Parts: sequence; C-alpha cells; structure tokens
Amino acid sequence: MWDIDKDKDVFKKILEEYLLKPKPENPRILNLGCGTCLETSVLIDFFGVGSSITGIDRDKEKINRAKNYHIYENIDFIAGDIQYLTDFIAGYFDIIIARHPNLQESRWDIVFSEAYKLHKEGGILIATSFSAVEGKQVIRHIKNAGYNILASEENKFAIPITKYLGNRIANDGYIVIAQK
Ligand SMILES: C[S@@+](CC[C@H](N)C(=O)[O-])C[C@H]1O[C@@H](n2cnc3c(N)ncnc32)[C@H](O)[C@@H]1O
Repeated sequence: MWDIDKDKDVFKKILEEYLLKPKPENPRILNLGCGTCLETSVLIDFFGVGSSITGIDRDKEKINRAKNYHIYENIDFIAGDIQYLTDFIAGYFDIIIARHPNLQESRWDIVFSEAYKLHKEGGILIATSFSAVEGKQVIRHIKNAGYNILASEENKFAIPITKYLGNRIANDGYIVIAQK
C-alpha cells in the first residue's frame, strides 16, 4: 500500500543526494504540475522556512486541497496551465520541480522552454518520472529547452510499485537533474 511518509522520504533523499552544495539560501521554488504538492513539507524542511514555493496545477480541486493542507508562510498554489507561464518574471526562480509530469496531457517541449525562461542562471531543475522510458522522453525536452543535464538515472532510493513490459515503475523512479 502507498505510504505517504515513505514517498516523502524518497523525495527528501533526492534533494540530499543531488542538490549542489552549498544549497541555495532561501530559494524561490516553482513546482510544476504540483497536484496537492505533498512534497511541500520536505522542501520547507530541506531549504528552510525562508524559502518560497509556488505550486501550479490545472486541477482546481487539487489546488484547493493543497491550500488547505499546507499552512506555511511564503507558499502559493495557483490553478493554471503550466504550458502558459506568462504571469511570472523571467529569471525569478532558483529551483523548478516537475515531479511526475503527465506526458500524455501536455506539450512538454513548451513546458520546459517556459521553465527555462523563468529560471535564474545556474538554477536547478528536478524532474522525476515513474519509469526510465518516460524519464528518457523528458530528458530530450529538457535538453532542447537549453538546460545542461547534470544527472539522469534510475533513482536508487525509489520503491518499486510494479513492472510494466519489463520496466520498473516507481514514484520518483527516474530522475533528471539539470542546470540553466
Ligand atoms: C501524476 S500527477 C503528479 C502530481 C505531483 N507532482 C506528484 O508527484 O505527486 C500529474 C499532475 O500534473 C498535472 N498537469 C498535467 N498537465 C498539466 C498542465 N498542462 N498544467 C497544469 N497541470 C498539469 C495534473 O493535473 C496532475 O495533478
């Protein structure tokens, strides 16, 4: 059965393992397709209460739930389409997260190009996928957007849910870390 605490722990280990040290102070974080943004508490614990988080998802119900769950300062959840990130200032965010993007539903070439514009120089992108097959599709879009890939691999911390056509499926199963 899915265990939210184990899931958060896997995400925390990704931050500990892959984020460049020293970690940015009070970073501005953008979470794309955040759903109910379950990783919010992990991000606040890791980066500190001085960090700010903006989560966007087009599912209004999930955004409303996120607003009710998470009561930290400096967080904002917005119902919107991540293919059109026109309301933000270019070069504003230090860290952008795309955790389990839903490739069937969106144009990921557009999403990562938009993300690139909003990223500071040197900013870090963390994109995770359920499988290596999906992760490798994501890498292509990330590279095309202009990012440098720092790491792309199966996540050794991920807890497998199942296998599909021989591929391991897991939350945060495949990780891409990239830098502007
Ligand atoms: C598989 S869920 C992942 C949610 C969360 N990031 C997580 O890892 O638990 C994919 C999410 O992406 C959102 N999504 C997909 N395409 C989107 C788009 N174009 N704009 C905004 N949200 C989108 C969906 O509504 C859904 O909540």
